[in-house]
Amino acid sequence: MILVTGASGQLASAILDHISRTDTQAVGATRNVDHSRESMRAMDFDAPETLSFTGVDTLVLVSAGAAEDDVVIRRHDNAIAAAERDGVQHIVYTSLAGAGDHLGFALAHRWTERRLEAGTVPWTILRNGLYAELVGQLLTPRDGVITAPLGDGGVAAIARQDLAEAAAVIARAPEQHRGRTYNLVGATAITGQDMARRTGAEYRPGTLADLRSDLDAAKLLPFQPSMILSIHSAASHGFLDGTDTDITAILGRRPVDPLEIAVAVAQSQN
Ligand SMILES: NC(=O)c1ccc[n+]([C@@H]2O[C@H](COP(=O)([O-])OP(=O)(O)OC[C@H]3O[C@@H](n4cnc5c(N)ncnc54)[C@H](OP(=O)(O)O)[C@@H]3O)[C@@H](O)[C@H]2O)c1
Repeated sequence: MILVTGASGQLASAILDHISRTDTQAVGATRNVDHSRESMRAMDFDAPETLSFTGVDTLVLVSAGAAEDDVVIRRHDNAIAAAERDGVQHIVYTSLAGAGDHLGFALAHRWTERRLEAGTVPWTILRNGLYAELVGQLLTPRDGVITAPLGDGGVAAIARQDLAEAAAVIARAPEQHRGRTYNLVGATAITGQDMARRTGAEYRPGTLADLRSDLDAAKLLPFQPSMILSIHSAASHGFLDGTDTDITAILGRRPVDPLEIAVAVAQSQN
């Protein structure tokens, strides 16, 4: 049996949808159990006593939200330790693209990769690129102007649906992917200029300092501004535009055009 964690989240629910279209059995685990669905287990990585993977062959460990590094690391450690204890045969972990090392949330992903490599359960690591949906949000025009400070930099973003399908493909045949790390980014990079052209907006990228002021004013959670700033800094300095990807080989088709997804998201915000 396959179990997918974080089942009420957007990525995990899409993975479960993909698996449910096949003849493979899968259940979800979530903090937010819908009791009308028998195939859901109640689990919270912050509460180790809730973690039970009995009967699970393949665990799809979806990274557990954005939080401070120590919180995310403890969550993932709790989940992996429970999987080891309960005899899980294979863990598929949704990590962060190789080019993402400079991002403010990279460390918890790389720690988790090391934890899997040092652990006792065979694994596959999916180094997921930034979502095209997220890039669309960041590059949404306001009053006809896109101000995100990406300079001329691009982001090899990828549709969340493609990442979900890739995870489902691998979870259904994990033996073929044992010990493999896949880089799952988009086959093209999205720039601010692309988004301006497609949305009819002007691209007037501000500075990181401008963005920091806006984020301060937005009163986000304490760890969020540094994460968002790191995406812009990495993209504008050319760290996120690499399109060397394993997605086509895994899906057996080219990925969905990330620019189409990003434009649709941007247009839906206005
Ligand atoms: N590649 C990207 O651009 C990008 C962007 C944002 C986030 N991410 C990462 O990718 C993951 C999945 O993305 P998404 O779009 O599905 O995010 P999402 O819709 O915001 O969902 C958040 C996910 O975190 C899980 N989670 C949070 N706290 C948890 C806890 N204490 N124990 C277990 N699970 C916990 C949630 O599980 P529940 O079902 O229990 O709520 C849910 O699956 C995120 O959690 C984050 O680590 C990637």
